[in-house]
Amino acid sequence: MRFLSGIQPSGNITLGNYIGALRNFVKLQDNPEFTDFLVFVADLHAITVPQDKTKLRQNIKSLVAMYLACGLDPSKVHIFIQSEVHEHAELAWILECTGYIGELERMTQFKDKKAKQTEGVTVGLLTYPSLMAADILLYDSDVVPVGQDQKQHLELTRTLAERFNNKYGETFIVPKPFIAKEGAKIMSLTEPTKKMSKSDPNPKGYISMLDDINIAKKKIKSAVTDSDGVIKFDPEAKPGISNLLTILSVLTSTQISELEEKYKDSNYATFKDDVANVVANELEPIQKRYNEIINSDTIDKILDEGRDYASYLARKKMTKVFNKVGLGRKR
Ligand code: AQP
Repeated sequence: MRFLSGIQPSGNITLGNYIGALRNFVKLQDNPEFTDFLVFVADLHAITVPQDKTKLRQNIKSLVAMYLACGLDPSKVHIFIQSEVHEHAELAWILECTGYIGELERMTQFKDKKAKQTEGVTVGLLTYPSLMAADILLYDSDVVPVGQDQKQHLELTRTLAERFNNKYGETFIVPKPFIAKEGAKIMSLTEPTKKMSKSDPNPKGYISMLDDINIAKKKIKSAVTDSDGVIKFDPEAKPGISNLLTILSVLTSTQISELEEKYKDSNYATFKDDVANVVANELEPIQKRYNEIINSDTIDKILDEGRDYASYLARKKMTKVFNKVGLGRKR
């Protein structure tokens, strides 16, 4: 089985990306079921909303260093940058000619991100799921790990793959979603009914994996909660406390019910202190490794290898696709 996933370099990655995605990649890289493991930096996806070019370049390099700092092992994982494998954009175009506008307009992420845009909504924001489908279908990834928020896009990928296969003959593997049990959704610290996002204009809403440790602790301690004083998991009535319980549960591998029991006589300040310390202990060693890696020359070598391997797989697939569709000359 081939594993494939990516994160957008649209800012410094958050505790949400770490808990919902990266931490699980690190665990899965040792799962013998995956014979091939690819993780990329989704820079083409990032430009669906405005990006500053200098920051984008920094974020790309920083994300690779973060992949390594969090434990992705380049001897097991091919790490590459999406835009360096041009077949992603080529296949996305072909899939745009396979999907329907109505299907794309129905996507929740499109509607949410559209509502946030002040500078005009790009066509890319609408066609984003075609690019995501291309990422997946290029590599015959049969199992794709996604958070709950990406499930709708994966459904669309399946639809596009099936439609293409019906029209042109078997070409793509129709992928199955793989929603990791531990792939909890982490919410904003200031608006706990919204997911934690690295592009949140309010930095108090998220913990960046590169936040100064004391700032990260402060953000947890000032996280929005409620006033009833009970530490109980109830995402509807108590989204703030429930979010902190989720973070603590995942990072300490403890059941939420056990935590509820442990903190049943505690106040919010004590509970928040504990969450803050656990988050700080998780971040500290990662940041130490990150600082060593970001200033080393290993990143380029790793990215060259990743690009070459991904390009080899992608080119083979695109030759097949071009022949099925009748593009160019027979190859
Ligand atoms: N809050 C979250 N909780 C759990 N998982 C999350 N992911 C993102 N936010 C959370 C997971 O991280 C992976 C990569 O995300 P992405 O960068 O490709 O896109 P995103 O989901 O749009 O992430 P952000 O941080 O919200 O980015 P922006 O602000 O740029 O849109 C995915 O597997 C996602 O499920």
